[in-house]
Formats: sequence, C-alpha cells, structure tokens
Amino acid sequence: MTKNRFPIEQFEELPTPFYYYDMEVLDATLRAICEQTRQHPEYHMHYAIKACNTPKVLERIVRAGFGADCVSGGEIRAALAAGFPASGIVFAGVGKADWEIALALEADILCFNVESVAELEVISEIAARMQRTARVSLRINPDVGAHTHDHITTGRAEDKFGIAMQDMEAVIRQTAQMEHVALVGLHFHIGSQILEMDDFEALCHRINELQAQLEANGLPTPQLINVGGGLGISYEEPDAEAVPDVKAYFETYARHLQLRPGQQLHFELGRAVVGQCGSLIARCLYVKQGTEKQFAILDAGMTDLVRPALYGALHRVENLTSQLPEERYDVVGPICESSDVFARDYKLNGTRRGDIVAIRSAGAYGETMTSQYNCRPLPKAYTSEELA
Ligand code: LLP
Repeated sequence: MTKNRFPIEQFEELPTPFYYYDMEVLDATLRAICEQTRQHPEYHMHYAIKACNTPKVLERIVRAGFGADCVSGGEIRAALAAGFPASGIVFAGVGKADWEIALALEADILCFNVESVAELEVISEIAARMQRTARVSLRINPDVGAHTHDHITTGRAEDKFGIAMQDMEAVIRQTAQMEHVALVGLHFHIGSQILEMDDFEALCHRINELQAQLEANGLPTPQLINVGGGLGISYEEPDAEAVPDVKAYFETYARHLQLRPGQQLHFELGRAVVGQCGSLIARCLYVKQGTEKQFAILDAGMTDLVRPALYGALHRVENLTSQLPEERYDVVGPICESSDVFARDYKLNGTRRGDIVAIRSAGAYGETMTSQYNCRPLPKAYTSEELA
C-alpha cells in the first residue's frame, strides 16, 4: 500500500515548521490518474496550480503530461517556469486584470475560462490591440449544489462564478460576432472537496441538457467541455486512502456525460492530485495544563496552515516522536488569535516539548495559503527525495 513515510531522524535536524512532500505518494497518485485518462484519449488533465505550486511538485506533474489550470498571471508564470506547455494552460477567475489577459495572450495559452460578458469584452479589446485571437471557454454556472463546505461550493446560482445558464445562448451569439475571440468550449466547476459522485453525475446531466438545448436552437456544440475539478480526499484516513478514488470519478463522467463526436473533455483537479502527499511538520513547543484541558502548543499555526481556522477543517495530527499512551489535547498554534487551533480534545500519543508532529493531508491549499501574519517567516518545503 502507498503510504507517507516520514524520515524522523532528518526531521530532527531541521528547523520547524516546514512542509514535507512525499514524492512516492505523489507519483502513485499521478500514475492512478494517468491509468484512467489513458483509457480515454479525449480526456485532458489540467492540474489546478492553486492547490500547490512548489516547483519540485510542479515539475513532477509536468512530467506526468498534465496541463495547468491557472487563476492569475503569477500562476501562469509559475506554470511556464515549471515547464507546462502554454498549449496546456487554461486561465480562470472572475477578476482577470488587463495585464494578466495580455500576459496570457502573449504566451498563447490554450484558452481563457471567461466568467462574464464584461470580461469577454475586455479580452476582445485587448486581443484586438495585440492583433491576436483569444480562445475562450465560457464558464457556465450550472446551478448544481455540491455536498461540501459552504465556502468551497461554487456552482450555485447565488455564487459569484460564471455566466448564468439563461444567458448562455446570448453570450455565445455575442462571441460569434467578435473578430478577435474564438469560442472553443464550455467550462463548469461546482466546488471542491466533493466525495459524492452523485454531485458530479448531476453536473453531467446538466451539461447534457445544455448541449441538447444548443443543438435544438441551431448553435454549434463547442470543441471542448471542461468540468473543472473538485474531487475530494480523505482527511480522516490519509494512509488507508493515500490515493483518492480517481477510478470512480472518471467512470462517473464516462458513464453519464454525452460527449459529441470529436469533443474533448477537460478536467482541473487540484486537491486530489497533491492533497495526500504533503504534511506540515512542526515541533511541540510547550504542553500547558489548563484548568479543564491540556494544550499541545506547536510552533506551526494558522499562518502555516489556515484551513482549520478558515473552514473548520480537521487535519489528522500525529506525534511522530512519542510512543507514550494516548492523551487528549487541544492542539494549537502560537498565533495571537483564538481560532489558531488545529484540533480540539484530540487524542495524541503523550506529547512532550520537542516532539515532532505531522499535520496530515496538507499538500493541497496548505503551503499556497500561508501568510506572514505576526511577522512570521514562511515555512520552507522539502521533498522526500531531498531528505533521502
Ligand atoms: N477549477 C476551478 C475553476 C476552481 O475554482 C478550483 C478550485 C479547481 C479547479 C480545483 O479544485 P479542486 O480539484 O482542488 O477541488 N482553499 C480551499 C479550496 C478552494 C478551491 C478553489 N477552487 C480549501 O482549502 O479547501
């Protein structure tokens, strides 16, 4: 079974906190995805760079043949620097700045995932000025709710993302009039950390309806359908489920989405690719006895991993040093905020000052969401190969 391995002796030598990426787990995940996509030559994968942009991780994903899903000019630059071909880059986001649009046109990326008419008009103007043609996919808000945290569901009518379904045809017709814009696709994304395949199935049905509607109204179906990302991981069982169930995910699309002849299907997975290979490694600074509970105070806090404070996410915490019997702790960080808590009333092996602690499943939206609040230095990152 693929499982994260922690070189504890090397960890002891390093200043904490830091991110640690197990490249064997990453490789196993990439292999599992490629095994599925290989069976469908019409499937194209774009890794969502926002999940983790550590260069060594990106290089590995490039080697697996993925394209990139970017949401800023900075991410486009990071993707190009890591070696992703421009022809595999898609660019999403509700607020693309003019310089970012120009950068993407200059690089000649695969396409813009356009989120509004206002944006489409600006892209068209900038493309005309640069004497280029902008390839675009229209991001359609499918009004499909996903069973996930409210803050990371994106496909409902009340969310800020995408173009409303009822406006789709008018926007398609408008795009056809634009000399410097070529419509290549329709784009969707319903949310993140989705574990119920029914949600993706609901998206498939919605796309089938929309394509049928286009045909009925004499509009061409586009060259590509992009269904975004969203496949979740097990935060409870990072070892038993080190590689997410990508088979069930791709089979859902294969079974329920009716592609037209020659049509491509694009994906933008982030969390499922990198979530389980990364851990935040910290030291216990103090064990403090409170009146009613005891606190394990780590040298990592919400500045190093914000998901617990931001979404109430629970990441598994493991004491890698101690073999002592389990005790209950509130596992907290050093930041001056009461939300700086990783886990409450949580069972850990008896913990002492200096023990090395791993906060698991932190490969996605961990390092990329760090901050320097409290003037803290950003955590470093190491791969298993660097420490081998
Ligand atoms: N495509 C689009 C258009 C997206 O907005 C996202 C994520 C993805 C793809 C990749 O989704 P994934 O496969 O990773 O679920 N910071 C939050 C997650 C925010 C996700 C934002 N969009 C977290 O830590 O849970």
